[in-house]
Amino acid sequence: MQQNLVRNKIQSQIQHMVNSAIILNRRFLDDEQLIRSEQMAVLEEVFNANVRDAEIKELSSHFAGILRGDHPCHIAIWGKTGTGKTLTLCYFLNLLAEMCSQQNIPIRHVHLDLSNPRPCFRALNDLACLLNASKKYQKGISLEEMMLRIENKLADYEGYLLLFIDEIDNVRRDMDNFMRFLVRRLPQRIPAKLILILVSNRLDWPEMLDARVKSFLKINELIFKPYDAVDLKHILRIRIEKALTENSIAPGVIEKIAALASQQHGDARKAVGLLAQSAYLAEKNGSKTITLETVDQAAAQLDMDRYISLLRSAPAHLKAAMASIIHALKTTNTSCLATGQAYEAYLSFCGKIKLRPLSNRAFADIIAELDIYSLIRTRIISKGRYGRTREILLDMPESMIDRINEMLIDTLIR
Ligand SMILES: Nc1ncnc2c1ncn2[C@@H]1O[C@H](COP(=O)(O)OP(=O)(O)O)[C@@H](O)[C@H]1O
Ligand SMILES: [Mg+2]
Repeated sequence: MQQNLVRNKIQSQIQHMVNSAIILNRRFLDDEQLIRSEQMAVLEEVFNANVRDAEIKELSSHFAGILRGDHPCHIAIWGKTGTGKTLTLCYFLNLLAEMCSQQNIPIRHVHLDLSNPRPCFRALNDLACLLNASKKYQKGISLEEMMLRIENKLADYEGYLLLFIDEIDNVRRDMDNFMRFLVRRLPQRIPAKLILILVSNRLDWPEMLDARVKSFLKINELIFKPYDAVDLKHILRIRIEKALTENSIAPGVIEKIAALASQQHGDARKAVGLLAQSAYLAEKNGSKTITLETVDQAAAQLDMDRYISLLRSAPAHLKAAMASIIHALKTTNTSCLATGQAYEAYLSFCGKIKLRPLSNRAFADIIAELDIYSLIRTRIISKGRYGRTREILLDMPESMIDRINEMLIDTLIR
């Protein structure tokens, strides 16, 4: 009898979940799972809605010379993460190559993806692999040898060679060697018409370069602006069409996600992430629509995940400072602390967990860091003739504070 009850309960739960499913195709909610051709298809629809028009126009005018037999110069492209640099360029270069081959113009393009940091040797090794000049993970040969292999492989190619170096600031050792090779040495040693496409998420990247390399880079610059709310609405609408059942979105939801994302970062990947989180939540709650409240909940959850993972990998003193602030606020039952009180709490907390405390000065730096990450908020209060003091507040929901606290205690005491 008991057994039957459980069976029925589980069966009806499963059936309920099936009935209230709103996600048809999960993969369109997670960029990591989309294959390139699907990404390109999504992108094409978005481009048709005039998103990234200005950038594509600039690219067209930069590279049009190829179809006239000219040799366009190198190009540097900057923009924050999630602004579509990688996808737009892959799309554009494929199209350009297609047009060239229709007119019998010899062209090759390779995409060296450096989104994971690596030293110069590994980056050149990867480039050599893309050019079929080397096998994966070559060991025991010198940097010079690797460069020679690349040059030898290209000795007979006289057409256009477009090297798309993505996230170039991630070359971690010998950046100058890497750049000198690409910018000065390679063009002199191979007959191809070389065009470098240097893409970075950091605007200050060229500052890191050797002055001589900088002067050699006769570079055209193109900046990818963060997506605005209108762009993001287009991007989201196409994802919704592909991923969710019809009518699963309450009025205003797309606008809300687009507004949140464009105010905070203009990152398409994160906007799609918020949509995905909202859809998962709605399904879990057994609801057939994503409402404005679902979006709020999803945003809070993503914030929480971000805080937790940020703190988890933080240095012990940062964790200890955060934990002691939470503890002090809870025990005094007030909404804010003076920095002196916070330091006292930190000293006693360090004593408890056997951590050698930092000086008051270094503690102030940690407070500033917590503030930058928006884990705490600080404000200056004037105390008349007693001068000014800084106050610390926790500006987040109680449930989030509790989860952060649990994680901190867990990782500090273990
Ligand atoms: N115009 C767009 N249309 C649809 N999705 C986009 C668009 N731009 C970016 N995305 C999504 O956002 C993610 C980030 O794009 P990506 O080109 O990798 O940005 P970046 O290289 O600037 O960091 C991609 O996975 C893509 O699916
Ligand atoms: Mg990229």
